[in-house]
Amino acid sequence: MGKLLVKNCLLRDGSKKDILIEDGIFKHISDTIIDVDAKIVDVEGNLVTPPFCDVHLHLDAALSVGKPRYNMDGTLIEGIKIWGERKKGLSKEIVKKNAIDVIEWEVANGSMFLRTHVDATDITGVVVDALLEVKDEVKDIADLQVVAFPQDCIYTSPDGERLVEEAIRKGCDVVGGLPYMEFCPIDGYNDLKFVFDMAEKYGCLVDVHCDENTDDQSRYIEYMARETIVRGLEGRVTASHATAMHNYNNDFAGKLIGNIKRAEMNIVTNPFANSCLQNRTDGYPRRRGHTRVDELVAAGVNVCIGSDDIMDPWYPMGKGSPLAGANLLANYAQLSGYSQVPQLFDMITVNSAKTMCIEDYGIKEGNTANMVVLDANSEFDAIRLIAEALFVIRKGQIISRTVPAVREITIGEERHKIDFKLKEDNL
Ligand code: FE2
Repeated sequence: MGKLLVKNCLLRDGSKKDILIEDGIFKHISDTIIDVDAKIVDVEGNLVTPPFCDVHLHLDAALSVGKPRYNMDGTLIEGIKIWGERKKGLSKEIVKKNAIDVIEWEVANGSMFLRTHVDATDITGVVVDALLEVKDEVKDIADLQVVAFPQDCIYTSPDGERLVEEAIRKGCDVVGGLPYMEFCPIDGYNDLKFVFDMAEKYGCLVDVHCDENTDDQSRYIEYMARETIVRGLEGRVTASHATAMHNYNNDFAGKLIGNIKRAEMNIVTNPFANSCLQNRTDGYPRRRGHTRVDELVAAGVNVCIGSDDIMDPWYPMGKGSPLAGANLLANYAQLSGYSQVPQLFDMITVNSAKTMCIEDYGIKEGNTANMVVLDANSEFDAIRLIAEALFVIRKGQIISRTVPAVREITIGEERHKIDFKLKEDNL
């Protein structure tokens, strides 16, 4: 496999190191390394980090915006209706093509570990089959976890239990749920009970679309914490979205966050879609409809950022960039305090890796040599600039490289380059 020597790496702790990779493993990390046999890449003091993990995607619907029609009122419910129309007669080839395109976008943006929810209640089974095939086909560039997600609910649709279990048997890594969209609370709690039963029966992880609404009485996440503790599944359970938490009263939210921490649950916030979907019908003043990221982080809960929807019926934009998600969340969740910016970086790297239970993650000797070189000289600037991923290295191989845009400004006879970075003479 050969050796790769990456020179002049700026690590997140501020140290400058050379990194020697041999046979796909971080062999040696030191101030200065000389190895005449190695291929050398000089990254000139740019920031080097572990790859991003985009822990919440819907790759079965990605790039389907406008097909068969656009979401004119922009609501979540309208998006679900359009997806219901879209999935009738959908071909496996189209689903695979769109999913692989977005995975390649993600890799070019520095991601290497992805989790996608897939509609397991599609009675044809096409989308589950498509994404399980994609998982295998992209394994040289990304690790993909597939969630058996009951888009039409487990009890509100005619055959939900069987379809979700079948998707797990086919090879899905994670079981998902949708309790708040079931007919009524009894079905919602049974939805969660079934999800946890599946997790125990098949040993899979749990990732539930939980309380993705603005209803202060939508409190299924409380039951998720309870089931996690009772069944001893600490560290293996994730609540995605949890936007209703924004509207809970503070007494209840305080008790709840304590129990989420006790259950070692992971929370995935999805700032792109949820900034558009939640509390959309409030009128004014309009609440943000976003989970309590700052309070959860302060309590020590593992919080991550996901892209969720990329050009689909729920959200028409996106380009598979975790850094863009962190940039948006800095604004939307008011995480612009200087000490909060590194927390944002954690949410797209180490925190998400923990949620996905990835072993062997991080730049240290003996680990698999997965890393990203960003066109930035700090994590603050990586988020501010939504920096390009200059090199993406997987198992010691360069799988993606980006040449940044060259911008030149002319003033009179003089011409010079612009790169948006803070310089040492910006006093
Ligand atoms: Fe989602």
